[in-house]
Amino acid sequence: MNAIASRSITRLINGALAIKPLANFAKDRARNMMIKRAESIGVYWLDEVAQLRARDGDAAFNPIWEQERAEICDRALTYPNYYLTSFHAYEEGNLGWEPALEATVAAKAVHARLWPEGDARGDIRLRQSYLDVLLEQLPQTPETIVDLGCSTGLSTHALQQAYPKAKIIGVELSDYFLTVANYQTNVALDSTQLTNSPQWLHAAAENTGLADSSVDLVSASLLFHELPTSAALEIIREAYRILRPGGHFTIMEMNPQSEVYKKLPAYVLTLLKSTEPYLDQYFALDLHQALMERGFSQPSQATNTSRHRVVIAQKPA
Ligand SMILES: C[S@@+](CC[C@H](N)C(=O)[O-])C[C@H]1O[C@@H](n2cnc3c(N)ncnc32)[C@H](O)[C@@H]1O
Repeated sequence: MNAIASRSITRLINGALAIKPLANFAKDRARNMMIKRAESIGVYWLDEVAQLRARDGDAAFNPIWEQERAEICDRALTYPNYYLTSFHAYEEGNLGWEPALEATVAAKAVHARLWPEGDARGDIRLRQSYLDVLLEQLPQTPETIVDLGCSTGLSTHALQQAYPKAKIIGVELSDYFLTVANYQTNVALDSTQLTNSPQWLHAAAENTGLADSSVDLVSASLLFHELPTSAALEIIREAYRILRPGGHFTIMEMNPQSEVYKKLPAYVLTLLKSTEPYLDQYFALDLHQALMERGFSQPSQATNTSRHRVVIAQKPA
């Protein structure tokens, strides 16, 4: 497709998305297609979400979720404005039960496509590909780990399995997601998939409240593409502050230099922007430069999938 055609399609899509009923119709169709596709590859979206919602057999939403959220929630927390917007086609963004109960299956559905098999194991393989890089490149086994933007705990569980003795803290802005993370941890402990439990912290990654120089490894898995540049830079600063000298900040993310994204037509980015509002800012950010400007030594980069990268930066000893 030539540049003029691509620009016209982009304008057309922007125009269509500005019409609310049309945008909602497109969203519903995309959602239904995603669920249908997930079911066809062995990610049993509808059943998994229904079971999670009810927890013990009954079909209705289990009120225990709200009780547990009240326990995990820091009521004094002020949400940054950029977070109070819709994400991933959920009007309420990340602050609601529907996105929280669906986050785990949605990740499994999206990551299934990363490998030719295209099945439910894709998410596990993505996590493992990240951990393989860490296990190979980090000079020491970290004892204290912070997982920034931990969502419902998929990345935190993977870290805990790779470093079973480590004390791990999952930091997350959505108290709904954290409540699901806590529940899924208890299930994993019961089934001995996990032998040690992470802790959960309802906080902004740019302001964790954790002590200076107290952490060996700060990990951010699939967080940065959800951030405006200003927040990304603040989070790098915060990671530097809480890391001990010699500690590492590792970032697993979409790789803008990968062939997949380099070839992406502009109109696809426009469509993605309606579900990922800060994607263009992430694609424009020079992550290595930003890390070095905030005190980290020259980062290394490895590719872990056809479209993801692992960036490792060290706080000088
Ligand atoms: C795409 S999810 C990635 C989750 C998980 N780390 C993984 O690898 O699957 C990004 C998460 O970051 C959270 N998040 C976004 N901005 C944040 C911030 N400033 N502080 C803490 N969490 C944040 C979102 O609520 C969401 O749960």
